[in-house]
Amino acid sequence: MRAFVVHELAHPSKIPLTKDWPVPTLKKDQIMVDVYSAGYNFFDILQAQGKHQSKPPLPFVLGSEFAGRVSHGFPIPEGCPLKPGDRVFGAALGSFAEKVAVPVKSVMKLPDSLTFDQGAGLFVTWPTSFEALVHRAQLQPGEWVLVTAAAGGVGLAAVQLAKGLGAKVIAAAGSQDKLDIVKRYGGADYLVDYTKKGWQQDVLKITNRKGVDVIFDPVGMIADCLKCIAWKGRALVVGFAAGSIEKIPMNLVLLKNISLVGIHWGAYQVHEPGHMPTVYNAFLDLLTSGRVTPPAVYKDIYSLDNLADGLHALETRKTWGKAVVKVKEEDSRVEKAKL
Ligand SMILES: NC(=O)c1ccc[n+]([C@@H]2O[C@H](COP(=O)([O-])OP(=O)(O)OC[C@H]3O[C@@H](n4cnc5c(N)ncnc54)[C@H](OP(=O)(O)O)[C@@H]3O)[C@@H](O)[C@H]2O)c1
Repeated sequence: MRAFVVHELAHPSKIPLTKDWPVPTLKKDQIMVDVYSAGYNFFDILQAQGKHQSKPPLPFVLGSEFAGRVSHGFPIPEGCPLKPGDRVFGAALGSFAEKVAVPVKSVMKLPDSLTFDQGAGLFVTWPTSFEALVHRAQLQPGEWVLVTAAAGGVGLAAVQLAKGLGAKVIAAAGSQDKLDIVKRYGGADYLVDYTKKGWQQDVLKITNRKGVDVIFDPVGMIADCLKCIAWKGRALVVGFAAGSIEKIPMNLVLLKNISLVGIHWGAYQVHEPGHMPTVYNAFLDLLTSGRVTPPAVYKDIYSLDNLADGLHALETRKTWGKAVVKVKEEDSRVEKAKL
């Protein structure tokens, strides 16, 4: 099969596509999936170079999030409710390939209303934003939320979810084009360009000097954002897209009685796996009921042949929403004939 294989650690732009890689061997409690779309994540770029905390042994197939169909002709573990042909989404290392072997606990049915491209960001990106806002920050309807990198993968999902949950959303991003995207797909109430000096004053003005109740920050700019947080506000530490791990002067935390709240979605697999289905069911319910707008997919869709171009676009801040690689086109006639 065709797969984006890391034979030696390198920047993805230096890695050619492997055209004759063996189909993975299923281990206990794994299911085989035909990948239709795979989601890009910033850590793919780091992992290919050995700069991420998760370092799989070489050689390995890159990619971690996918949507596709359960493969025909492979065994399905006992007790697994899925059958060949089912539309699914999930997460597994090796998603940048035609087939991926996935632990059954890491794959779920994809709602009929969502495309494979939309499903490719549902297993990691969306639950991160949901868990952060709902269970970690305890966001309440009517509260003010500031989302940084609001046009990015987790950022745009956070804007969409916060709006669906009845919050008032201020979206911050680095260009007018990206702010337009957030308005179009996320329905943010207010837009702020955070590359402009003193942007926090705009946030204070918008909130009538109160400041925001919740900060959702995937960039690593919480110290900047604390200039416009409300008394007893909660600041969510989501990521460090700007490239370095932020250090915060603790007097800022003390002065307004604020809470710094961490979120690491992947760690729930280890510490609280029983909580994960609650999160998936809750945000899928929001999506399928129409209370939250469907996931936004970046306009340029990549393929296995130009996969590294998509990672380059991600690395250079060009993408918005969820950027995906289309691995296989859906042919409804063929798929129906098989079922
Ligand atoms: N905590 C968790 O469980 C979890 C889960 C998923 C992702 N994350 C983390 O969240 C962060 C964002 O992930 P994502 O998938 O949303 O990424 P993304 O789609 O690439 O968005 C990142 C955005 O960050 C902004 N940014 C600001 N400074 C940047 C810089 N120096 N370089 C690159 N981007 C910069 C850019 O928006 P502007 O151009 O508008 O500034 C960029 O579009 C990453 O650090 C990721 O590892 C954490």
